[in-house]
Amino acid sequence: MSHAHSADLTEHAGHHGHAHDHDDEHHESFVSKYIFSMDHKMISRQFLITAIIMAVIAMTMSIIFRMQLAWPGEKFGFINAILGDKWGKDGILDPNMYLALVTIHGTIMVFFVLTGGLSGTFANLLIPYQVGARDMASGFLNMLSYWFFFLSSVIMLASLYTENGPASGGWTIYPPLSALPEAMPGSKLGMTMWLISMTLFVVSSLLAR
Ligand code: HEM
Repeated sequence: MSHAHSADLTEHAGHHGHAHDHDDEHHESFVSKYIFSMDHKMISRQFLITAIIMAVIAMTMSIIFRMQLAWPGEKFGFINAILGDKWGKDGILDPNMYLALVTIHGTIMVFFVLTGGLSGTFANLLIPYQVGARDMASGFLNMLSYWFFFLSSVIMLASLYTENGPASGGWTIYPPLSALPEAMPGSKLGMTMWLISMTLFVVSSLLAR
């Protein structure tokens, strides 16, 4: 019996070595390895890098609105340098932009850092190891999941550049501030872009597998 068992093992090892010869190394280009990767470890890194960038942006926002709160009326050159004359005239944060920055700070921290960043990074990295699988169930859907997350991040950041500013009613997006376009400046295009971004974010979460 032990004889049969060892023969089995040998065959298995041989088969494994053979499979390895045809592994990813062969047909991999830069694009398929680093950009449109279907490998859970690379997708995990992509989520991590994107989430770190989003976290730095959201931290910068918190520094801007917290300094305004701590020293109201004080002129901060860097606020004007970052936000320009429209939202940071003479280095004083515009009240509507204050509300917008708090909202987008909360949104980015909760969705893009905590939800997307942590689960996108660690679920992708650890679940295959924990269940003893080579990868997630569908590398292709997993790849789409990251790119929907990326698109969603870009649209959320792009909403900062709309004429009336981004969504400003708080990250919970309660009506009426979110529902009525005339409620506040950020309730117009900014709010719509917030919703489009969140829709893509949800698609990303659903595709992660
Ligand atoms: C650099 C670190 C951070 C600073 C200085 C900071 C500061 C602040 C401050 C001062 C507010 C309240 C603003 C106001 O109501 O006037 C706020 C709101 C908020 N923060 Fe942070 N925060 C930081 C990191 C984080 C992190 C790591 C998270 C979550 C993971 C987070 C989530 C939120 C949320 C959800 C809100 C509420 C947003 C809203 O009311 O719409 N923050 N933050």
